[in-house]
Amino acid sequence: MKVAIVYTSITGNTEEAAEIINKNMKNYTGNCYLYKVEHFPFSDLESFDVILIGTYTWGNGDIPIEMVRLYRAFETSTTKEIVTGVFGTGDQCYPYFCGAVDEFRDMLYVHSNLAATLKIELLPQLLDESRMKRFIKVVFERVQNKNNDLVVPFRV
Ligand SMILES: Cc1cc2nc3c(=O)[nH]c(=O)nc-3n(C[C@H](O)[C@H](O)[C@H](O)COP(=O)(O)O)c2cc1C
Repeated sequence: MKVAIVYTSITGNTEEAAEIINKNMKNYTGNCYLYKVEHFPFSDLESFDVILIGTYTWGNGDIPIEMVRLYRAFETSTTKEIVTGVFGTGDQCYPYFCGAVDEFRDMLYVHSNLAATLKIELLPQLLDESRMKRFIKVVFERVQNKNNDLVVPFRV
């Protein structure tokens, strides 16, 4: 099984979350690759069984510009089989907390086998680590039970 974590981060919050998720992923697979989105091999997208997407939110609940290519790649992908999860960091001071996670969620629900979403307030804290572990667990439960894709994505 081939897994990718693809993320973007400016000030490091989402990067920290991606690294914690990557570290915990070792309990499930030794075949997990961590990519900043600009280094993701887009032509190999469909070779991954699982893709976890990490994004901060910009503007007024928007997807960061550098994530638009990934968003479009899923939209135009010929397969809906990839098991996905989307996590993000945001700031509750903004009216649309982690809006980019919701944007990805709505698209991935249609164009992939979306298992879970996770929103984190700014820099991940100790308490968030258990939420991240749960996020990974839910994703891998979906991998084991792939045909169960009519289940509503789990919001961790
Ligand atoms: C100009 C600007 C707009 C933002 N808009 C939102 C927003 O609409 N919703 C939200 O939850 N967070 C928003 N944020 C907060 C960031 O998403 C948050 O700080 C995030 O953790 C940054 O992630 P990073 O450290 O990985 O770059 C905004 C931040 C800036 C600077």
